[in-house]
Amino acid sequence: MKTLPLLLPSLYILLSLTLSHGLTKKPTDLEVFHMYSPSSPLRPRNNPSWEDTVLQMQTKDKARLQFLTSLVAAKKSSVPIGYGKNIVQSPTYIVKAVFGTPGQTLLMALDNSNDNAFIPCTDCVGCSTTVFAPTKSSTYKKVPCGAPQCAQVPGPLCSLDKTCASNFTYGSSSVQTRVSQDTLQLAQDPVPTFTFGCIEKTTGGSTPPQGLLGLGRGPLSLLSQTYNLYKSTFSYCLPNFKSTNFTGSLRLGPLGQPVNIKTTPLLRNPRRSSLYYVKVVGIKVGSKVVDIPPSAFAFDPNSGAGTIFDSGTSFTSLVKPAYIGVRDEFRKRMGNATVTTLGGFDTCYNVPVIIKAIPSITFMFDGMNVTLPQDNFLIHSSFGSTTCLAMAAAPDNFNSVLNVIANMQQQNHRIFYDIPNSRIGVSRQMCS
Ligand SMILES: *[C@@H]1O[C@H](CO)[C@@H](O)[C@H](O)[C@H]1NC(C)=O
Ligand SMILES: *[C@@H]1O[C@H](CO)[C@@H](O)[C@H](O)[C@H]1NC(C)=O
Ligand SMILES: *[C@@H]1O[C@H](CO)[C@@H](O)[C@H](O)[C@H]1NC(C)=O
Ligand SMILES: *[C@@H]1O[C@H](CO)[C@@H](O)[C@H](O)[C@H]1NC(C)=O
Repeated sequence: MKTLPLLLPSLYILLSLTLSHGLTKKPTDLEVFHMYSPSSPLRPRNNPSWEDTVLQMQTKDKARLQFLTSLVAAKKSSVPIGYGKNIVQSPTYIVKAVFGTPGQTLLMALDNSNDNAFIPCTDCVGCSTTVFAPTKSSTYKKVPCGAPQCAQVPGPLCSLDKTCASNFTYGSSSVQTRVSQDTLQLAQDPVPTFTFGCIEKTTGGSTPPQGLLGLGRGPLSLLSQTYNLYKSTFSYCLPNFKSTNFTGSLRLGPLGQPVNIKTTPLLRNPRRSSLYYVKVVGIKVGSKVVDIPPSAFAFDPNSGAGTIFDSGTSFTSLVKPAYIGVRDEFRKRMGNATVTTLGGFDTCYNVPVIIKAIPSITFMFDGMNVTLPQDNFLIHSSFGSTTCLAMAAAPDNFNSVLNVIANMQQQNHRIFYDIPNSRIGVSRQMCS
């Protein structure tokens, strides 16, 4: 009789310990939206048709691919502003981040191929909106010229008041920022004295409306700045752009990451340390390994050649010999039915296609084969009258040596970036 009252409080203590332990150890998950998704406040107001949306995404991809190519180019990178000032090429997925004290909420674009974090601030010249007011934050600080962070930003400048500024290009934009520090809150985790750029001036159409959160690996990236918290580990599941009900997420840190997941080694290009290079060994269409010259997939840090996972490009882009090989085999397996085009897609069918007759497509990475579900390589018009193979050859008006595994091919998968163990994992997960 006596044991029960004693047992109950200890059970209670044990339970509450477990509970509070469980609470503090919650994974850091941020909701991820597609910029065009019906739930996104940044969706274009004119409600474009399916065709227009696809064409717009292709145009943005061209600008994006040109930007990525200029990043990896053997020569000193300069960004040709070939795709016009009206083209917004900013990345397509956004997350909610809170800056300052009290917090000001922003919907920042995610870009895994970039290290920078920058946001439009009060008095910005050329920003489409100003969303962050430094004077309303009690924890906001400017970084002085002598600070180590000032040596790590791209294009450092020292202002008259001896605070640090940074001048760089992003896509087709040139951006000038005041190097700043403030508290950043991601989900439940505060990151004090996070270094970022407060945009003072920008030109061109690539600056995301509410700023950019880079997930690259460089010294000033979010990952480097939060190493103690997140150990340079993250994963995401990107929802389909058409979905309204989704649970897309960005998960920061080792907690709650997939354990049994197929992985492939990450390669490092010292000239472009922020890009996530992997090795592709081949591509299968149906059961056939397509005959593609190995040079199409060769990794070469000097020329920048190789294959990257990019969250900001919509449709996978392969160097010409690889794309032609995949496309021809795909067409053949579609029974040589009449093909049509849609913008940059050259393998579309206007007849309702028989889903069962469509061959699978498998990316063979070093140590990991990923067979894409149809939703990851086919797009269908709203009425199902057009179906296209949603990949393309790298645009040939600039010298592209880069294969880009784009977000359409990553959607509804968990993509796990494990930098300490130098690997990327992929597993199927429905999040849209
Ligand atoms: C920043 O860069 C742009 C273009 O690269 C240049 O026109 C501008 O003068 C630079 N600003 C400063 C303050 O150096
Ligand atoms: C989204 O989910 C809500 C509730 O779960 C449901 O009522 C709604 O119909 C769904 N919308 C779509 C487009 O599936
Ligand atoms: C498709 O075309 C190729 C080359 O012209 C030919 O070898 C193949 O037999 C054709 N396949 C079908 C199913 O008609
Ligand atoms: C990937 O597929 C190829 C061809 O089917 C096979 O030879 C290879 O062993 C597979 N690799 C892995 C890691 O499963």
